[in-house]
Amino acid sequence: MQDAGVIEGGAIAIADGIIVDVGPSAAIRANYTAGREVDATGLAVCPGFVDPHTHLVYAGDRVAEFERKMQGVPYLDILRSGGGILSTMRATRAATVEELTVTAQHRLRQMEQLGTTTVEIKTGYGLDTRTECNLLAAIDALAGREPADIVPTFLGAHAVPPEFAGNADGYVALIEDEMLPAAAEWHAASRLAGKPFYCDAFCEANVFDAAQTRTVLEAARTLDFPLKLHADEFVSLGGVSLAVALGATSVDHLDVTPDFDRAVLAASPTMAVVLPAVNFHLGSTHFADARRLIDEGAALAIATDANPGSAPCLSMPFIMALACRYQKLTPAEALNAATINAAYAIGLGDQVGSLAPGKQADLLILDAPDFRHLVYWFGHNLVRNVIKRGQFIV
Ligand code: NIG
Ligand code: FE
Repeated sequence: MQDAGVIEGGAIAIADGIIVDVGPSAAIRANYTAGREVDATGLAVCPGFVDPHTHLVYAGDRVAEFERKMQGVPYLDILRSGGGILSTMRATRAATVEELTVTAQHRLRQMEQLGTTTVEIKTGYGLDTRTECNLLAAIDALAGREPADIVPTFLGAHAVPPEFAGNADGYVALIEDEMLPAAAEWHAASRLAGKPFYCDAFCEANVFDAAQTRTVLEAARTLDFPLKLHADEFVSLGGVSLAVALGATSVDHLDVTPDFDRAVLAASPTMAVVLPAVNFHLGSTHFADARRLIDEGAALAIATDANPGSAPCLSMPFIMALACRYQKLTPAEALNAATINAAYAIGLGDQVGSLAPGKQADLLILDAPDFRHLVYWFGHNLVRNVIKRGQFIV
């Protein structure tokens, strides 16, 4: 992760949206003739960002709740009293698929302007079969409208809906019996068929305990879903070891992961995904210990966690800036965490996330001579151009 693989005065040969070769300009010029040349002299070029954890499709906002949070009301207390995820659930249930699609598209366009060319998007604000399927339909429509690659994730186990208050087991049974099979059926008939489709759950105090989380993830695995897990955001319930034991592709948050679980994760092929915008937005100065995760051998990725409650943030460069300042990543580690490792965190490590022959030509031209400016600056956009599969989209 320490090596950003910088080539001074480099060039990239692209054909049919795929990278053919990368190297010093003189060598590339000697070996290829181009129908079109783009001159980026003096500007840094890097892979498009991969945002491997977002909740981009929802209705409404949580601005009023943000004010309460800043006055000291804890996140989990707001959820317990029927707000938080459940307030977004109410707005989302009342929205049409088209409304969900249009609002998410507006957010995705802004992400593209900020350099994100591949994004994971979770369901989880429907919490009943009909609305979870609406969220999947909106993700499908979004994939048809925007150039970014989308990896969908089913997160029916995001909160316990009011119909099942006090009966999380009953809701878990509904997920197993009805929602997961419906999600699998949607995927097979969608634009995203044949691409990865994950199942995720929120393993947290007063949400889903370790046994309920295991039930959901095991049911998903039976249906061939690859797995992800929200674990250790506020209270550690053993989610990391569970996710690793089930062969999850990633385990995300990791803010309060105990030493023994960090060691399990570091020794596993499961990707550690940290989400520093959540700590920042909740006004906390405590961040996941990404430095120790890397030093102990974990593969680490970073993501926005874009969502209305804990991270209203669409910017991967801002996440990189946070990770450098508060989690002590080097600029090269932050870039790798936001590109190649993030691609592996959503099962696309062989297609996107680095500038290498055979990969999709997803790249950014920066308004800066050196990629480190990306993390040095914050609060404005240093992405000058975005190229997706060889085409300028910004
Ligand atoms: O990743 N932690 C659970 N889910 C989201 C927050 C969702 C919300 O508050 O709306 C997260 O932080
Ligand atoms: Fe999340």
